[in-house]
Order: sequence, then C-alpha cells, then structure tokens
Amino acid sequence: MILPPAPILELFKLTKSYPSPKGPAVIVKDFNLNLAPGEFVTLIGHSGCGKSTVLSMVAGLTGVTEGAMILGGRETDQAGPDRGVVFQSPCLLPWMTAFENVMLGVNQVYFNARKSERRDLAEYYLSVVGLGNAMHKYPGELSQGMCQRVGIARAFALQPKMLLLDEPFGMLDSLTKMELQEVLLALWRRNKLTTLMVTHDVDEAIFLSDRVVMMTDGPAAEVGDILTIPFDRPRNRVAILADPCYAECRNHLLTFLNERSHLRPSQGK
Ligand SMILES: Nc1ncnc2c1ncn2[C@@H]1O[C@H](COP(=O)(O)OP(=O)(O)OP(=O)(O)O)[C@@H](O)[C@H]1O
Ligand SMILES: [Mg+2]
Repeated sequence: MILPPAPILELFKLTKSYPSPKGPAVIVKDFNLNLAPGEFVTLIGHSGCGKSTVLSMVAGLTGVTEGAMILGGRETDQAGPDRGVVFQSPCLLPWMTAFENVMLGVNQVYFNARKSERRDLAEYYLSVVGLGNAMHKYPGELSQGMCQRVGIARAFALQPKMLLLDEPFGMLDSLTKMELQEVLLALWRRNKLTTLMVTHDVDEAIFLSDRVVMMTDGPAAEVGDILTIPFDRPRNRVAILADPCYAECRNHLLTFLNERSHLRPSQGK
C-alpha cells in the first residue's frame, strides 16, 4: 500500500479573534486544512469572510489566537524565509530598481552565499518572470503587471518551502492576469512549491488549483467545502474550458458561494 506523503502544512483548529468593546470578535474559528508537498490550493469565499486573515496567520504576520500551525513537521507562529508571500500590491521600495528590490531579500536570506551567486539568483528569477530587459528599472518606470512580476520573482528567489499569495492578480487587467497565471504555474511546476493562494476569481481557482477550499461567511468562518480539480497538468486553458467537467466545477463553487456559504459544517448545518 502506498501511503500519501505527510502534509507539509497542517492547520489545526486555527482560530483568530480581535478584542472589541462587546468582547472578542471571532473572525476565523476552527479552520482545519492540510496541504500535501507540492500541492496548489486556493482559498475562496465572500469578501470579509477571513481569507486574508488565514493567509496572514500562515505567513506568521498575524498571531494565532487558538489552534496550531505545523509547517514541515514543526509548530510555528512566526514569519520566516521558509514562506514567500505575494500580496495584491507588491510593496516595492521606489528608490530601488527591480533587481535591487529582489536582492534585498536574497541578501538577507543568503548572506552566506557569494555575491555573484546572489546576483545570479535574482537575475534568474527576474528573467523567468519576463523582466530580463527591465530589471534595472525603478518601480515608477514599471507597469502594475511588471511590478507584480517583481513581487513574484522576489518570492521565488528566496526559494521558500511554501508560497502564499493574497489575490496577487486582483488589480490586473484580464490579459495580464492570464499571462501571469501561466508564469506562476510554470514556476510552481519547476520548483514544486506548495502554494496557498487567496482569490475571488472562480475561473482562476479552477485553472490553477489542485483543490479549492471554500470558506463559510464570517464571523467565525471555517472550511465549508473542498473541491478537487480533476484536470491533468500541464493545463491548457482552451482545452479545459471545453471540458464538461469545467462547468461542473464552476457550478459547484458558485452554488457554494450563492447558496451554502452561510451554513456551518461544524454545527451540522
Ligand atoms: N486588525 C483587525 N482588527 C479587527 N478586525 C479585523 C482586523 N483585520 C481584519 N479584521 C476583520 O476580519 C474580517 C476578515 O477580514 P479579511 O481581510 O481576512 O477578509 P477577506 O476574506 O480577506 O476579505 P476580502 O475578500 O475583502 O479581502 C473582516 O470583518 C475585518 O473587518
Ligand atoms: Mg483579503
């Protein structure tokens, strides 16, 4: 019998609450999820349900109120270079070039490596995301899509164990978005990086993911349902759109969001 690989990330009853005048406001409650090594999982749910809160806890940028987070077999509640994070806006330092922005993190994480190796790493990932000719430009000279490419290169250049993305393509036009989805998938395949990504976009979730995790509405949001995406990889956008399974996946996700997201699986409703 072949046993499934041990999960690289285990979220056990992850709970987040903030103090409020009326007592603790529970945003996320008993959120349980395991990610297998190399898996691509997306998180969808209504605005304000707590997707970014879950991602920030996993990134170690927001404290966990209750529950546990086990990464690579070790319990953690801190941020670290083992997790690369990409946000909706890449937060680049405007007085540094794209290359210098990527080098900033590389220098911190690989301070023991030779300077030429660090430069090679930054140049390699900037080239892979399509910025080979623009890496010495400043963020002010780059388009939004190009800045997001820098953000992706920066995350990959740190060679983390996990990639965490919070609506990384949310502000981009649909053509740029499709292009960057392909860039992300190519890098993900090459590096076999376990990925957790928040998105609002049902089609993006289907195209990218191995599994789509649907969150219930807040407060006290939890995992409502999980859909396994059946398409082989590498995926061809046109081919999967024509597959009857595509409509089934889409329908499953939309029905959850429109009709079932208010139900609480933990209470049997
Ligand atoms: N620092 C904070 N203090 C109090 N409440 C907060 C804080 N940060 C977030 N919240 C609340 O937590 C809830 C979930 O926020 P979160 O940003 O995780 O939602 P989201 O699902 O990512 O939404 P969106 O899709 O709009 O990005 C919201 O009601 C928000 O007001
Ligand atoms: Mg959010």
